[in-house]
Amino acid sequence: MKKVKIALLGLGTVGGGTYDILTKNRDIIMERTGVDYEITHIFEKYAEQLEKHGADLSLQTLDIDSIISQDSGVDIIVEALGGMDFPVQVMTRALKNGISVVTPNKAAVAANYDTLKKAADEGHAYLKFEAAVGGGIPILTPIQEQLSCNHFTDIMGILNGTTNYILTKMLKQGQSYEDALAGAKKNGFAEPDPTADVEGIDCANKLCLLMVLAMGRYVNPQQIPTKGITDVTMEDIQAAYNRGCVIKLIAHATLNEDGFNYYVKPEEIPLDHPLASVSNEFNAIYLDGDAVGELMFYGKGAGALPTGSAIVGDILAIMKALQ
Ligand code: HSE
Repeated sequence: MKKVKIALLGLGTVGGGTYDILTKNRDIIMERTGVDYEITHIFEKYAEQLEKHGADLSLQTLDIDSIISQDSGVDIIVEALGGMDFPVQVMTRALKNGISVVTPNKAAVAANYDTLKKAADEGHAYLKFEAAVGGGIPILTPIQEQLSCNHFTDIMGILNGTTNYILTKMLKQGQSYEDALAGAKKNGFAEPDPTADVEGIDCANKLCLLMVLAMGRYVNPQQIPTKGITDVTMEDIQAAYNRGCVIKLIAHATLNEDGFNYYVKPEEIPLDHPLASVSNEFNAIYLDGDAVGELMFYGKGAGALPTGSAIVGDILAIMKALQ
């Protein structure tokens, strides 16, 4: 049996969660997959990050070539660096060299979908990004596997944990926008620069990935009409509540006789609607498929361990495929 070699790129919130799951749950992972694995490299600038997770300091490196060159021996990289140019370059090179990639980086995958897919095809490697949409919720894999016989006509979701946490804290605890955002940062839900979260850009990236996989239509995230929550005031939230509604940041795509339509924006959701009760960092995704009918997926959309769970799920699928 081949021992699968894994390199972690970035040991921040998500990379750290991934490391913790791979080390602490090693026994059940090996029992359930029958595959042995080892973490061979951690590409991370700060030694304290390795110390925080009890990782062996000898794994620390900033030599990217030793990880992604064709003869590195690495089978899978987890790109959890965040950002755009460097991660895209690294993922493209790794894939072309036959090294599989798992990433939660929705911005990078959404903007460079074709390039990365082509690189994966060229290198006969796997590119998986379940963690990029809905954090710990398995949504992209079911769409591509169990549900792949469906034409999907409707996708509607709460896709960003940070903004949902902020809107929930403003409504339920009367917190100010600033205090609620600080809470989202402290809990590791927000991106290091939370602009993409609060301006709806993160949701647009996720909607892009859902649309291409569920509806077969790629739309660059910059072409998705997008509005975030920065203009939503406490007064708006209270007024909506008095009308029997909650304000949620909604990502919506429809593909039907009226055409193909999509947007991200804050909307008033009636209190008896299933999405109204999705609170804090939780996400939910509603799908309508012509065979399966209506489906709802619900779970933690952000945070170290939920996102790490989705990443490790992708790693396990690749490990099994590599045997
Ligand atoms: N910043 C993102 C969110 C992380 O709040 O949803 C998970 O994609």
